[in-house]
Order: sequence, then C-alpha cells, then structure tokens
Amino acid sequence: MKLLIVLIIYSTSAFAGPLSPNEANFVKSVWDHVRHNETDMFCSILNQFPDIQAKFPQFEGKDLNSIRNTTEFITQAVRTFTFFSNIIDLSDNPVNIPTITILLKNLGVSHRRYGVTTAQMNEFNYGIVSYLNVSFNTNPNNSWNDVVAAAWTNALDNIFGSVFQNL
Ligand code: HEM
Repeated sequence: MKLLIVLIIYSTSAFAGPLSPNEANFVKSVWDHVRHNETDMFCSILNQFPDIQAKFPQFEGKDLNSIRNTTEFITQAVRTFTFFSNIIDLSDNPVNIPTITILLKNLGVSHRRYGVTTAQMNEFNYGIVSYLNVSFNTNPNNSWNDVVAAAWTNALDNIFGSVFQNL
C-alpha cells in the first residue's frame, strides 16, 4: 500500500498513471524474483543494446561472454541494480520521497556527464522489461501478463521520468 502511495505521488508529476494496490504488489514481487541477478540483467541489456555497452570505455567493443565474469563487469552490474533495488525498497515509505528524488536527480546529472541520452535510458527501460518478462516466466508459479506488464510500465515511467528531467 505504501509503495502505491509513493508511486501515485510520482504519477502526479504526469510521469505515469497511478498504480493499483495489486500493481504495486506485482512490482515488488517481480523484483524480489530477480534482484540478485545483477550480472545476468546487465549482460542481457548490453547484449540487446551495444550502444549502451559502447558508453563504458572499459567494455566497449569487447565480447560480452569474455567480460561478464570480470570484477569490473560484476561491479558495474551490482552498482546499477543495487541502485534500482534501493529505489524500489525506499518506495515503501512516503517519508523517503525527498531521498528518492535526490537519488534520481543525481543519477540524471552523473549520466548526463557520461553522455547518456534519453533514447539510451529508454532502451535500458525496455531491456529491463524484456528481461523480467523472460525471467519471471521461468518459474512455473509465475506469469508475466498484461497486468504485471502495465504495473512495471507505470513504475519505470515514474523512475525514468525523474532521471530524464536531469539528463
Ligand atoms: C542507459 C544506459 C546507461 C549507460 C550508458 C550508463 C553508463 C554509465 C557509466 C559510463 C558509468 C560510469 C562507470 C565507471 O565509473 O566506470 C555509470 C555509472 C553508474 N550507473 Fe549507469 N548507465 C546507464 C544506465 C543506468 C541506470 C538505468 C542506472 C540505475 C538504475 C545506472 C546506475 C549507475 C550507477 C549507480 C553508477 C555509479 C554512480 C554514478 O556514476 O552515478 N546506470 N553508468
């Protein structure tokens, strides 16, 4: 319920429509399923979008299979998705809204310096959803369906909407 409140408040910034309590629960339960697959998720997104990989000088032009187990790669994957997990976890409590706002603003500012574009953030957003879609369905008790997808679209629009304002 609290996640719902935070996401509704974000949605008043016209980033996305409000989430129902069920949608808010879907977002959390799906994320709990994948939150520790950092390297796998990062690899999947870079594989789909080589232009994102090319923004990392240390990974540019390298075969993903040859770098995915390196400390550098794992470190960046964990940094990226721990950030994501923090936002989702903080969303449980409306008192954290100022913190979330600052974190997303800082992410936009740092990534503007790296030359990351809105189009690339949209690719990243798309890459997360397609990873979740496949991964969530590997467990026979789970099912990625239109309702789950809509919840994620709203949640990600709210998150990336804040980043875009500072990119
Ligand atoms: C859209 C494509 C993206 C590109 C091309 C990109 C690129 C980069 C680059 C080049 C760095 C610096 C790496 C280094 O210091 O060696 C970085 C850092 C980082 N990225 Fe990304 N990034 C992207 C999306 C994201 C997203 C969506 C998140 C979070 C959900 C994220 C989280 C982070 C974090 C936490 C850091 C370290 C702290 C910072 O520099 O702000 N990145 N990213």
